[in-house]
Amino acid sequence: MMKIGIIGCGYIGRIIAENFKNEVSACYDRNIGSMEKISEIVTRDIACSFEKIIKMDMDLIVESASIEAVRELVPKVLENGKDVLIMSVGALADPKLLSRLKKLAFENNCKIYISHGAIGGLDAIKSASLTGVRKITLTTRKNPAALGMNPTKEKIVFEGPASEAVTKFPKNINVSVALSLAADKEAYVKIIADPSVDTNIHEISVEGDFGKMNLVFNNLPSENKRTSILAALSAVSLIKNLKSEMFIY
Ligand SMILES: NC(=O)c1ccc[n+]([C@@H]2O[C@H](COP(=O)([O-])OP(=O)(O)OC[C@H]3O[C@@H](n4cnc5c(N)ncnc54)[C@H](O)[C@@H]3O)[C@@H](O)[C@H]2O)c1
Repeated sequence: MMKIGIIGCGYIGRIIAENFKNEVSACYDRNIGSMEKISEIVTRDIACSFEKIIKMDMDLIVESASIEAVRELVPKVLENGKDVLIMSVGALADPKLLSRLKKLAFENNCKIYISHGAIGGLDAIKSASLTGVRKITLTTRKNPAALGMNPTKEKIVFEGPASEAVTKFPKNINVSVALSLAADKEAYVKIIADPSVDTNIHEISVEGDFGKMNLVFNNLPSENKRTSILAALSAVSLIKNLKSEMFIY
């Protein structure tokens, strides 16, 4: 049985707890009520502190908190020799943080996992990158409320590189950074606020020596309007892969 720790006990953290009730052994959130909710879900009193998560015997820590948590807490997780699944992938748009985390993982013999999140196809894009990706674009269309905005008609609210997109929309566009990491090339991003949609739509187009790839995801938002249901399921599925004798990604 795996021992799992959760940093960030919001929507994704709760889905992890529901799916791995016996395996979640510790959690941490700056909001005490959110940690109590995890204990309720797993129907046990579990350790609720960051210090305990990094000192206890753990097989995997799931970061499902924020970009700030990746910056401040994930280095300590790796320093303590723990594998980590990072959901707030937008943090890795910062090249200094990315290389620091990779160095810590190497020095402490740990792994950093990135799940496919709110999109899919990272596996195929990563394979395509082996012969070079020439162009990678992402067009994201969301209801303005999901972007924390209120235009009353369709509007392009951002166009530019993924690293800039994530500084303007840190809670919305993690997928652009995941794509850039998989492609080994920065994705070009367009974000459209569209009051006529109530799903989170991501259209991805990739070109390289392998040929061309077009992917479209039309995701239902979760109870957290910014987060698609598929993103939480990607974390569950990755953990199931790690536990299974057959790894499908
Ligand atoms: N990779 C993807 O495709 C993808 C998709 C959706 C969401 N996400 C990211 O996953 C993360 C979690 O999403 P969610 O929907 O569960 O969010 P949420 O807002 O429901 O929950 C986040 C929780 O983390 C806690 N938290 C935030 N920063 C913290 C810190 N520094 N220290 C302690 N606790 C902290 C908050 O109090 C909150 O309870 C977000 O960063 C989100 O942007 C990634």
